[in-house]
Amino acid sequence: MSKTIRKAVIPAAGYGTRFLPVTKALAKEMLPIIDTPTIEYIVREALESGIEEFLIIVSSNKNAILDYFDNNYELESQLKEKNKLKELEMVRELPSKLNIHFVRQHEQLGLGHAVLCAKAFVGNEPFALLLGDDVYVGNGKPAIAQLIDAYKKTGSSILGTLEVADKDVSKYGICEPLPGEFGSLMELKSVVEKPALEDAPSNLAIGGRYILTPEIFKYLETQERGAGGEIQLTDSIKRLIKEQEVFSKQIDGKRYDIGSKVGFIEATIDFALEREDLKDDVLEFIKSKISE
Ligand code: UTP
Repeated sequence: MSKTIRKAVIPAAGYGTRFLPVTKALAKEMLPIIDTPTIEYIVREALESGIEEFLIIVSSNKNAILDYFDNNYELESQLKEKNKLKELEMVRELPSKLNIHFVRQHEQLGLGHAVLCAKAFVGNEPFALLLGDDVYVGNGKPAIAQLIDAYKKTGSSILGTLEVADKDVSKYGICEPLPGEFGSLMELKSVVEKPALEDAPSNLAIGGRYILTPEIFKYLETQERGAGGEIQLTDSIKRLIKEQEVFSKQIDGKRYDIGSKVGFIEATIDFALEREDLKDDVLEFIKSKISE
């Protein structure tokens, strides 16, 4: 099988109930971290990692995502007329670089069901999967590039992981490494979705980044509902492990859960503190708040 990962799938069709009321009308993936929608950070991560073709999975009220990755000729001609060339380049740059497709998930039956909507796009090659509400700042390398490197070594599915506190294991898919495995790259015995703490085999949570072999679709097609009544990707990965090797790879970097309000605020502050045009003012503001 090919060792190159050319395609990325980004599911962005969920309801985003943790971020209501805004998500009633606005996709959480379009919530801006300062001035850039969350989903752009994810697309750029994949682009920097060598991905050539993108598929974003959307639902009926997420047309803003389609518009965002398209050209806006009216805006462009206005900017040209007013000689706002920097802004013109800003709105043109990303659409010109992307080979991007969209598919609708008609019913929000869960992440596993969303990924199944990518079957025709993916075909018979391994692919990258990046969840639409997890943003990473990788140490040295983008998060998905770290998994692509691991895939080049193993030729197997790779689940990007992060270590979570005991109180959080029941919110994630959790990995069970084979006995004797240790280090950052480990072969897995099993995975379990949202286990109770006493049933959790480890604290290694699946963190929204995957490389998957196309055999996953065979299992997704017959996947029954699992935790929360949803069709869970983790349950199909568990079945895939019985057929072929699957590995976990610890992601070296910082993850922001944009689907939660606190994660979103944390990302906004951290990203502002990294921006030359904002950091001094924002730091000043934070200092004055703390001293109040
Ligand atoms: P989440 O469970 O975090 O997203 O799914 P959600 O359901 O939108 O959010 P909450 O929990 O109600 O606040 C992880 C990813 O899978 C996508 C989501 O858009 C998100 O990127 N997803 C989830 C789908 O595309 N379709 C689904 O049916 C479920």
